Amino acid sequence: MQLELGELTPEIFLKDYWQKKPLVIRQGFRNFSDLLSPEEMAGLACDEMVESRRIYKSEGEWQAEFGPFDSYEHLGESDWTLVVQALNNWLPDAEKLIQCFDFIPRWRFDDVMVSYATPGGGVGPHIDLYDVFICQGSGRRRWRVGDRGPHKQFAAHPALLHTESFDPIIDVELLPGDILYLPPGYPHDGVTLEASMSFSVGYRTASAKDMVSALADHLIDNELACEQIEDPDRALSDQSGRVDATDLARIKTQLLNTLDEQLISEFSGRYLTSSKCELDLPEENLGFHAVDVIDMLKEQVLTRLGGLKALYFDASVEQGVFYINGEQVSLPRELAAVIPALCDNQLLSENSLAEWLSNEVFVGQLTEWVNRGFWYFEEV
Ligand code: SIN
Ligand code: CO
Repeated sequence: MQLELGELTPEIFLKDYWQKKPLVIRQGFRNFSDLLSPEEMAGLACDEMVESRRIYKSEGEWQAEFGPFDSYEHLGESDWTLVVQALNNWLPDAEKLIQCFDFIPRWRFDDVMVSYATPGGGVGPHIDLYDVFICQGSGRRRWRVGDRGPHKQFAAHPALLHTESFDPIIDVELLPGDILYLPPGYPHDGVTLEASMSFSVGYRTASAKDMVSALADHLIDNELACEQIEDPDRALSDQSGRVDATDLARIKTQLLNTLDEQLISEFSGRYLTSSKCELDLPEENLGFHAVDVIDMLKEQVLTRLGGLKALYFDASVEQGVFYINGEQVSLPRELAAVIPALCDNQLLSENSLAEWLSNEVFVGQLTEWVNRGFWYFEEV
């Protein structure tokens, strides 16, 4: 699978469109084929580990239901949508689609959502907080996109936040292989013309509020930033109710000083690699020994579990620090160079790990990850 941007390069896309304005990319994928069939999707949606939703209208009222689902009979042949979140956690092939957008780093990536809709089906006009590449698979869908601006939002159903009708700045019919890129904040509405599958590659950042709140938990859990705010340089005051500008600046400086780069990276690394949705992890240790891992790598590759996140920061990678699945890992410094090999790639091979496979600490650590299901063996 290859993304074809035509005249557009990823650099131009990032400069002119990313987070700024919507874009229709005609035939971004030539000969696009669905990553799974509607039947396979229905199979996933009956698994309770998988997050799924159905949206339809009944007697003019919007309805939303949460999976697992085992029957669709009452829904008929039109006007409903089935959505499965985090498809990439369950379907390894989804990785090929994500890779097409790797000009945006993975820490920004959220998930691939698949939607199957019957004619007339859609989730209603709404605004999202994330960037998304909606890749049209089989079928046809009409998309209307309005401009950013003050749009009134309301709950069309307790689980559906809709927006009022809007004047479209884009009104297109997407065909298989077409892509609609939407930055956050643009109202949009997709209505299916012909039974349709679409694959939405979504990118999300947290709000400052969510991150500050999680950061506070991190400080409490790890007893960090316990220093008292202090003021040994106090000047004389003659207004006892006043916090003057110097006092406020001192409080702000001392607060910000506790949030140094190390603390922010140690918190963000854990935060950004934590999974929102279930991962397909084994319930028990898989029981591989280091020798098995070395042996199996001769014939097979290790694939990173779909949805499992790993990242490193420029400032600490050389000290051997990286983050995986919400945990901080500190490798011995001499293993620092393996970190990009682990985090930048989804596949590990005997070849890509050659330099480190004679290092006992590394192989021990790799074996632990394999036993926890972070990477799994696959035939080449
Ligand atoms: C869908 O694919 O059904 C909805 C996608 C969206 O509008 O966010
Ligand atoms: Co949307």
